Amino acid sequence: MSGAVRQPTIGAAQGIRTPRRVLVIGGGAREHALAWRLAGEPGVEAVIAAPGNDAIGHLPGVVCRPVRPGDGPEVAALAEREGVDLAVIGPEAPLAAGVADALRAAGIATFGPSAAAARIESSKAFCREVAASAGIRMARGAAFTERAEARAFARELAREGRGVVVKADGLMAGKGVVVCGGAADAVAAIDALLGARVEHDGDAPVVVVEERLVGREASVIAVCDGTAALALPAARDHKRIGDGDTGPNTGGMGAYAPVPEMGRDVIAAIVRDFHLPALRDLARRGTPFVGALYAGLMLTADGPVLLEFNARFGDPEVQVLLPLLAAPVAPVFLAAALGRLGDAADTSTTSLRTVDEAAAVGIVLASDGYPEAPVAGDEILGLDAATATGALVFHAGTALAPDGTWRTRGGRALTVVGLGPEVATARDAAERAAARISFRGMRRRHDIALDASSAVASDAAARAAPVAPGIGGGTRA
Ligand code: AMP
Ligand code: GLY
Repeated sequence: MSGAVRQPTIGAAQGIRTPRRVLVIGGGAREHALAWRLAGEPGVEAVIAAPGNDAIGHLPGVVCRPVRPGDGPEVAALAEREGVDLAVIGPEAPLAAGVADALRAAGIATFGPSAAAARIESSKAFCREVAASAGIRMARGAAFTERAEARAFARELAREGRGVVVKADGLMAGKGVVVCGGAADAVAAIDALLGARVEHDGDAPVVVVEERLVGREASVIAVCDGTAALALPAARDHKRIGDGDTGPNTGGMGAYAPVPEMGRDVIAAIVRDFHLPALRDLARRGTPFVGALYAGLMLTADGPVLLEFNARFGDPEVQVLLPLLAAPVAPVFLAAALGRLGDAADTSTTSLRTVDEAAAVGIVLASDGYPEAPVAGDEILGLDAATATGALVFHAGTALAPDGTWRTRGGRALTVVGLGPEVATARDAAERAAARISFRGMRRRHDIALDASSAVASDAAARAAPVAPGIGGGTRA
């Protein structure tokens, strides 16, 4: 990794144990970054990735164990067999399936919320309910099971001159949201979603209909122990497949951190207004949130508004955030899992300490056909040349073939992360490394983090722009 990242210091010094054996559940680029970071920290002797992937298994100090990551009893049995001191759950599906509950029932310290607390992500209707009772600002909107009521509400928003967003209630891997051009589009989206089988809480499919917000987006993720929250720097994801925020939404095509216009004071206010009220509300319901609470925000002209909470680290956000943290994360995750965040870090501040003057930019390289119809099996060239530039290359949908070549598995294949003293230099580093990698049909963006340098001008444009229906795309000023 880059020489810009200083050796971490706190943790043991402040009395919290460093977990020696850590289980990381998942097998994407987010989990590659988590395993890389944890295995490299002082006192961590082994990371067990379940199921991991071929590249994760190549990290020093890391072994992969085949397991169905959504099967609680199977994961808990593995954790016991491996004698882990801490389990860290990466993706949303195992959280929604109750894997954290199974681990805790087996006495394993677990960084990741219970299924009940993870509903803040797995049900957009529940997220709106928590936000309403906690006084957290969200777009005007509501959840519906009745087509006629949903249509009527969408038409009402459109009549008021507002754009309309229609969302499926359940986990949709970032693809269940339709930013509509007008009332007719919204009605079509409602009909499609209420007609489709959508994973959801109740007996009938649920759609959420919301006013479309305009502004720039940012993600603020905080490590939470049920009551306290410590934020990572703000990150900005690029969700659309195409340059200039065009085409369909994806799981995320690249990210950068920090977000230059979001300094410590802004982050502190966000933790105060979004994370802490949500923690209080979930605790009051008897389902305290332990894990990474991700606030997806729209920075509107009137201040930040919540688009969604996720119950986990962002992907690709965490790939650019972990390299920026100054102190070991293993004792912080363990302390959070034990409800003792204050023992591992200074909770009188609202943020985890970061490396001075460091920024990271991650570019996602996805397989042919992503996101509509991803194709597998293409040979990936240039991986060694990319890492030789000093960049970090995290693998998601890749596999090491028997002939020793790396192949795509369909979907997001790699996140290439460049580091530098500021976003622009980190972007150059990421671009230089990504340019070394090629495969047939590779899909990527060339404008990741380009907006960071024009932040001030774009924010002024966002304030000036009216909220107008009839324009597709909600992410750009
Ligand atoms: P979500 O899964 O709710 O975060 O939505 C995914 C993406 O859809 C967000 O990152 C935004 O780009 C867009 N989006 C969701 N809700 C809204 C909204 N109310 N206004 C504008 N864009 C939105
Ligand atoms: N990058 C968006 C997410 O992880 O949900």
